[in-house]
Amino acid sequence: MDGKMNAGKLNAGKLYVMGVGPGASDLITVRAARILSELDVIYTPTGKKGTQSLAHSIIAEYLSPTTEICAYHFLMKADRAAKEAVWDEVAQTLKEDVANGRKVGFVTLGDPMLFSTWVFLLERMVSEQIKIPPWLEIVPGITSFSAIAAVSGIPLAMESQTLAVVSCTAPETVLEQALVNHDCIVLMKVYSRFTRIRDILRRHNLLKHALMMADATLPTEQCWRDLDTLSPDEQALSYFSTILINKNW
Ligand SMILES: C[S@@+](CC[C@H](N)C(=O)[O-])C[C@H]1O[C@@H](n2cnc3c(N)ncnc32)[C@H](O)[C@@H]1O
Repeated sequence: MDGKMNAGKLNAGKLYVMGVGPGASDLITVRAARILSELDVIYTPTGKKGTQSLAHSIIAEYLSPTTEICAYHFLMKADRAAKEAVWDEVAQTLKEDVANGRKVGFVTLGDPMLFSTWVFLLERMVSEQIKIPPWLEIVPGITSFSAIAAVSGIPLAMESQTLAVVSCTAPETVLEQALVNHDCIVLMKVYSRFTRIRDILRRHNLLKHALMMADATLPTEQCWRDLDTLSPDEQALSYFSTILINKNW
């Protein structure tokens, strides 16, 4: 099957894209757990060098033994063309499975609509981006920053406060605008950029309002409330590291 699928393919199977939360396997939704137990096939990402991904380890206990497991690997450090080739291939495979009448699962960490590679597949699969077709269901998940707010006790936003969610891959001017213009800020994808981000927070006198958490809700979870004194060892951060800032807390 070529091209994007339209809403008319009602006799086809169904694709369930499920957010599986921040890490703890009991932080997935009841709906996702039910769907996971009923799938014909599940697509799960592999980690580096073919190791089991975090998303796979979260869902393993919910899968039916009869569900076929298909692993794929999204390139993280390749150039754009190589990444796009993988997105094209995975999107095409998912479409073919759905067209063959299968109940297909695809999982993402946290929520699928927030900084997720899934959205590049979605763009390739649907013809009308403002409407979800009947062959697709997206199941929301608990985002990493919701989990971090809950675990640390720092509110995300209150009353008339504003909240910005920003990736540290954004240009420095974008980060600075978010820090100046909002009361509460979530900084995602911190890891290797920590020292640069800390310098920016220091410049804006925000270190005292910031908290960083790595591997939230996992056994390896770490939380730093004093970012000024992080040792170089501690700065070798997990990919799963996020900073929360609340200027009123
Ligand atoms: C590609 S984004 C995925 C975001 C995800 N869709 C969500 O809803 O949270 C990856 C970033 O999410 C954050 N992240 C994901 N899981 C995390 C966790 N368990 N603890 C801390 N940060 C996490 C980190 O900032 C990481 O660099």
